[in-house]
Order: sequence, then C-alpha cells, then structure tokens
Amino acid sequence: MRFRSARFHLTTVFVLTLGLILSCGAGTFYLWTWHNERSQLDLLLKITASDTATAFRENEPDFDIQEIAGQHLQQQTTTPVRALDLAIRDVNGRILRHSHGFNLFISNSDPSVRRALSRFQPSYETLGHGEEAVRLLNYPVRLDGNRGVVLIEAAAPSDPVEDSLLRLGETLAAGVIVALMAAGTGAWIVVGRTLRPIDQLAMDAQRISSHNLHERLAATETDSEIGRLVSTLNDMVSRLEVSFESQRRFTADASHELRTPLTILRGQIEVALARARSVEEYQAVIRSASEEIDRMDCIVNDLLMLARADAGQVALELEPVALDQVCQTVVDHFAQLAAHKHQSLEAVKLERVVMIGDASRLHRMVSNLVDNAIKYTADGGAICLELQQDKANAQLKVKDTGCGMPEPQINRIFERFYRIDKGRSRDLGGSGLGLAIVHWIAEAHHGAIQVESKPGHGSAFTVTLPLVPPGDISEL
Ligand SMILES: Nc1ncnc2c1ncn2[C@@H]1O[C@H](COP(=O)(O)OP(=O)(O)O)[C@@H](O)[C@H]1O
Ligand SMILES: [Mg+2]
Repeated sequence: MRFRSARFHLTTVFVLTLGLILSCGAGTFYLWTWHNERSQLDLLLKITASDTATAFRENEPDFDIQEIAGQHLQQQTTTPVRALDLAIRDVNGRILRHSHGFNLFISNSDPSVRRALSRFQPSYETLGHGEEAVRLLNYPVRLDGNRGVVLIEAAAPSDPVEDSLLRLGETLAAGVIVALMAAGTGAWIVVGRTLRPIDQLAMDAQRISSHNLHERLAATETDSEIGRLVSTLNDMVSRLEVSFESQRRFTADASHELRTPLTILRGQIEVALARARSVEEYQAVIRSASEEIDRMDCIVNDLLMLARADAGQVALELEPVALDQVCQTVVDHFAQLAAHKHQSLEAVKLERVVMIGDASRLHRMVSNLVDNAIKYTADGGAICLELQQDKANAQLKVKDTGCGMPEPQINRIFERFYRIDKGRSRDLGGSGLGLAIVHWIAEAHHGAIQVESKPGHGSAFTVTLPLVPPGDISEL
C-alpha cells in the first residue's frame, strides 16, 4: 500500500469523515438514551415516594410499605428495574419503616438526612459503584397538624439500567466500527477503480518519447474528467510533435543551406589547386570564395538571431524611432539596385510616424521586405512604400508588381527556409530566412503582418505596429 497515493488519501479522508459523523450520531443517541433511562428510573422513584407519602399520611400506622414497593415494581414496564425499596425516617434519621430489601448500609447518613429536610425538596443521589450502584430519592414530606416532617427514601439498583446502556454503547461502537470497515473497503475499491485509468494513463504517457511522438494516449471515456485529461495530453503531444518536427526540419534545412556554399567553395578551391594558375585566375577564385563566405556568414547570422529569439535572449533596444526616416533610408539604399533592374522604387504617402521600437531591427524589417519586392519583381516593375498612422498604430505597406504568390503557399512563406521557388530564390541570393525574421521583428514589437498577393499581379505586405508597445509608456 502506498501511503502517499491519492487512493490512500481519499479513502482515509472518507473513512475519517464518516467516522466523525457516525461517532457524533452514536454519541448523541447514547446520551439521549442514557438521559431517558435515568429519567424513567427517577420518575418511578418519585411516583413511588409520592404514593408512599400519601399512604403514610392517611393510614399511619397500618399501611404496608412492602406492598407499595411491590405494586410499583410490578407496574413498571419501561425501565429494567429488578428491585424497588422504601424507607421512612424521622427528622433524627431514625428509620420508622422500611421494606424488606432496603439496604440499611447504603441509606442516608444523618447529615444528608438533615440536608434533605432543611432544603425540603426532593433530591436524587447515586450511591455505590457497578453492581452495587443504587439510585436513591430523598423525598421530604410534611405531615398534617403538628406531626412534624419525615423523609421518604425510595431506592432502586441502577445497574440494570447501566448494564443496558453498556450493551447499547458496545453495540453502537461495534456498529460504527463495522460500518467504517465496510465503507472503507467500499471506498478503497471504488477509488481504486476510478483512479485505475489514471495509472494506466501514466504508464502510457511514459511510453511516449521524442522517438514516437506520433503515438497518442487511448481514451476510454470521452465525457469524463479522465477523457478530458487524455484529450488535453494528446493535444499537448500533438503540439510537441509539430514543434519537434519543425525543429528537425529546421536543423536539416540549416545544414543543407550551409552545405551548398561549402560544396561550391570546395569545388572552386579544388579546381584552382588542380594546376598552376595565373594571378587573375586566383583572384577570381578568391573573389568567388569570398562571396560564398559572405553568403554563409549571412545565413549563420540569421540563424543565430532566430535561435536567440526562440530562446528569448534577444532584447529590443526600445527608443523613439522615426519610421518614415527608416523607410526613406531603405529606399535610398536600394535605389541603385532597383535602377539596375529598371524598376521604380518610391515611398509614396510617407506620413511622419514616430513610434517606440528598436531602430536597427525595424530597419532590417523594411529592408527584407523591399529586398524581396525587388528580387521577386521582374525588370521594369514598380515597388512602392506607404506609411500611415492612426491613433494607436503605424501601418507600413510594401507593394510590388512582381510574380505574386499562389494562395496555398502564402501561409507558409513566414516559415524558416520556406521558399516557393527554391532554385530561383537561391539564384537570387536568398536563404528563406528573410520573412521569418520580418515576422519575428513584427511580433516582438507586438505587431502583425498580412500579405495579399495574386500570381502574376504582384504582392502587398502590410505590417501593423503599435506606436507604443503594450507595457511601455515611456515618452514618445
Ligand atoms: N514580394 C514577393 N513576391 C513574391 N514572392 C515573395 C515575395 N516576398 C517573398 N516571397 C516568397 O516568399 C519566400 C520566402 O521569402 P524570404 O523568407 O524572404 O526568403 P528568400 O527571400 O531568401 O527566398 C520567397 O522565397 C518567395 O518565394
Ligand atoms: Mg528574402
């Protein structure tokens, strides 16, 4: 038996609570019965004493005290009394009469007789112990005329009453113990049965590791708490599976992405070393190798940034940023590249927008969007930037008249290394991390990004950023 188990705890709490309730109930019943029996015995003594007083007043000296005691004992049916005795004393404690069975040794001493007479009120006493115990009533009576006072004593052994109470107590205690044992056993079985699926669940859950994340826990009952627990755990495993899968893909993509420039690099070096070459030829190889190294450098830097972002290690350096100036700088930076492709690149509708943000990351975000727009727009196309603000948000739009994207793929372009046309992207110097970084920067600023695109007609990326990130109320 595991003492820390929920089964043990629940059963113990149930048994203790039930024990408390049953004990209170049995105790109350016992006290009530005790009081009842005692009252009935006292009442018998009182009626007997009162009748004796009447007889004594009327028939003195002829009445038979033994007969009165015998009559009352016979009439008694409710209380288990085996004897009833009477005695009459004068003020000095001298016994005037007594029934045969009256035990003179246990009867009143002088002081108690005097006390009973001076108070002149009936009073009860219990004398002796166990089988010797006697219930005694002192019943003072004033006689007519100047015949003075007498004390009538009515006594009955109280052990039958106590015996029956003892039996009742034993029966109640045994009943409580049996009830608790039965209830405890029942609770142990029921709780065990209720918790068994949880044990099973724990064992099933232990079986699932990173190698078999496709497995799910079996749900026996769908509507119960356990059913809900199973579906919650299964949902969690599904999310873990997705996350593991994307992690695995990310690692595979990253290695693949780095292997390509490395293969090119090795090929170039091997070709260069195959025979003696002219200075110009070596320079050309080194220039090309340097480009591949730049490319790897870019990928590694981007990967590092995303990995740090995942680990929550990238802190934004928040400051007031003139977003319109950032856009203008980016436009100026890419002007030459666009001109080279005979594209028009302009910032139309550039409102003055100052927001709290990280200037270099916002610059990176706009650059990546404009870089894509130029890359994926054919020669002679048009790219334009729009910046507006409403009360709480800045809205940046980067539109192009490029190749556009088919609907199903639009949802995936923010995934790491995802590219609609891999070959083309690589030829254009892309690694598929640009939009993942844009997405992270927008989210880090508590913003959102949306895409509208039509294949062959161009795309529009809209980034909405709060002017002041929630939780930051520093001055604008
Ligand atoms: N303006 C755009 N027009 C058409 N396709 C785009 C545009 N911007 C991004 N894409 C698509 O989204 C993919 C992911 O973009 P990105 O993450 O920047 O990677 P990369 O530019 O390195 O290929 C691109 O490969 C391209 O297929
Ligand atoms: Mg890109």
